[in-house]
Amino acid sequence: IISNINALEVLDSRGNPTVAVYVYLESGIGAKAIVPSGASTGKKEALELRDGDPQRYGGKGVLKAVNNIKEKITPELIGIDVREQALIDKILLDLDGTPNKSKLGANAILGVSLACLHAAASYTDLPLYQYWGGSHATLLPVPMFNVLNGGVHADNNVDFQEYMLVPAGFSTYHEALRAGAEIYHTLKNTLKEKGLSTAVGDEGGFAPNLQNNEEPLKLLLEAIEKAGYKPGEQIFLAMDPAASSFYVDGKYKLASEGRELNSEEMIDLFENLVEKYPIISIEDGLAEDDWEGWKNFNERLGNKVQLVADDLTVTNPNIIEKGIKEKAFNSVLIKLNQIGTVTETMQAIEITQKAGMTACVSHRSSETCDTTIADLCVAKRTGMLKTGAPCRSERLAKYNRLLEIEAELGDVAEFIGVKGFKAGR
Ligand code: PGA
Ligand code: ZN
Repeated sequence: IISNINALEVLDSRGNPTVAVYVYLESGIGAKAIVPSGASTGKKEALELRDGDPQRYGGKGVLKAVNNIKEKITPELIGIDVREQALIDKILLDLDGTPNKSKLGANAILGVSLACLHAAASYTDLPLYQYWGGSHATLLPVPMFNVLNGGVHADNNVDFQEYMLVPAGFSTYHEALRAGAEIYHTLKNTLKEKGLSTAVGDEGGFAPNLQNNEEPLKLLLEAIEKAGYKPGEQIFLAMDPAASSFYVDGKYKLASEGRELNSEEMIDLFENLVEKYPIISIEDGLAEDDWEGWKNFNERLGNKVQLVADDLTVTNPNIIEKGIKEKAFNSVLIKLNQIGTVTETMQAIEITQKAGMTACVSHRSSETCDTTIADLCVAKRTGMLKTGAPCRSERLAKYNRLLEIEAELGDVAEFIGVKGFKAGR
């Protein structure tokens, strides 16, 4: 039974304010959760409430959200059984009453929803993944390491936001993690040798200036081989161009290459890359306002590669359903704070998996050491997790949490590897 809730304005990995929530139970147990924040956000995401007071944190303070938790949410939840997640989330939704959670703020709502989930797991004395997923919670995800950053996550000239190493050709999670870390270090040396910058972007990946948007793939291949791994067998590649961020007036503006492409030409570009490189996943290859383009994209490449919708679907069950009906993608990115409650996120995952598609769980570019998403992957058997480079503690917190879970599961731990990327195809 919830006895009290508290909230604090704390800082995230970009040094911006975010919401931390503490839930206390009558039994004396307490738990906390901290909310992440995105930079390349989809237009239809639930609203992250910021104070807008230029005198504090450049307007990014979250005291309004914190006060909403203390004054409006807490009185409604005291006395409720913390295991009643659906009821708690319904109370939160009703109390907000807006379609995009703009009254209380999705940051306030998600913080409470998540902290309640953690408190319930503590109360039942189970690790979160087991409380959440029961006896099926035994599948470790393939980590997707974003080792080269561009777009709005870095100050370099690369248009595409993320280039990922996907060590899917192993039989355990810890081998995949080790390969990712070793290649990351080899990549650093490779960049150094070429006189390129090894400073890192927001998700811990390197962010050098490069010739064009294909060069990162070449560098990744070189590093994989130099590190002694086999591309296309042990290590695959993935990209998140985050194309909404360079879609201007119906055209994809590739500033680093000095050219503008229409949606058909973008698909041609990806088709060419998929033929040349062992790419198994492309997220947001097209923009959220290019729905027709997405359908064409999925028709042309959907049987060859995982096409993940992020900005397009924003973890919103209604939009995901529309996309499934219209065959606009074959995989959905899952970010808790895009929709704002645990219950709605679970609906998004269920709809996606029921349609035979993969649900790819993701961090945000601004993170904290909260590790909920690691447990989420195992609980819901998503088979994949993207949470940045194997660098920066807010990213490693999740990867290390999975090591703990793997060790705890022992012999029953499973690793799906590359098969996990084939769902829906
Ligand atoms: P964001 O980036 O958290 O800045 O939105 C991550 C992504 O686009 O997947
Ligand atoms: Zn994305």
